[in-house]
Amino acid sequence: MVPKGKFIAFCGGEGAGKSTQIELLAAHLRRRGRDVLTTREPGGTPEGQQLRRLLLTPDGDGWEPMAETLLMVADRVQHLRRVIAPALEAGTDVLCDRYALSTLSYQGAGKGVAASFIRELHRQACDDFWPDLTIVLDIPPAVGLARSKRRLSKEKSDEDRFERLRLDFHDRVRTAFLDHVRKNPETSFLVDATQDISAIHDAIRGRVDALFEA
Ligand code: TYD
Repeated sequence: MVPKGKFIAFCGGEGAGKSTQIELLAAHLRRRGRDVLTTREPGGTPEGQQLRRLLLTPDGDGWEPMAETLLMVADRVQHLRRVIAPALEAGTDVLCDRYALSTLSYQGAGKGVAASFIRELHRQACDDFWPDLTIVLDIPPAVGLARSKRRLSKEKSDEDRFERLRLDFHDRVRTAFLDHVRKNPETSFLVDATQDISAIHDAIRGRVDALFEA
């Protein structure tokens, strides 16, 4: 595949405000005349929607970390082949709420599945396909979890399986995101998600505009 569109993923802890920022960035790019697709993982395909229910609701409480990893990757294979790759090939920019870095951080650092295994799985199952840019919205877990729980209860959503995990789990996830950005400065960008919405958007827009000019 020779992508013509740009592939930008958003990652970060719970309640970091990814969906708001994805919408703002999509609007900005569309104003610049770009064709933009917004999507998410897990659940960016009809098959993935079923996996999302299995993974995020209390029904999923029994998964072994390894099984959970394989399901996240199964969701990604469907999503990459059926949605992301065709869109990029057609020249559409893809803004994706979470991608492989979330598996490395949640199932890897958070739940102890070997990062080397997750990376190998990504190589084999997803052709080692990584975003042009991964934006990490960083927030202290205690702050993000409080926000996220408020939203879940307002939306009467039961997709709270990860929110219910302990703070030390979320601390390990956060550390993994921060390490990734430190090691991959060219393809990732860290934003302080405790700032107000417009300041976060301005920072993201600056970095993304640079990506399009590169
Ligand atoms: P998301 O819909 O982004 O939830 P939120 O907006 O509350 O952050 O992500 C759903 C959950 O799935 C989130 O708790 C993180 C988890 N997740 C993983 O554990 N591994 C993965 O590979 C992905 C894509 C998501």
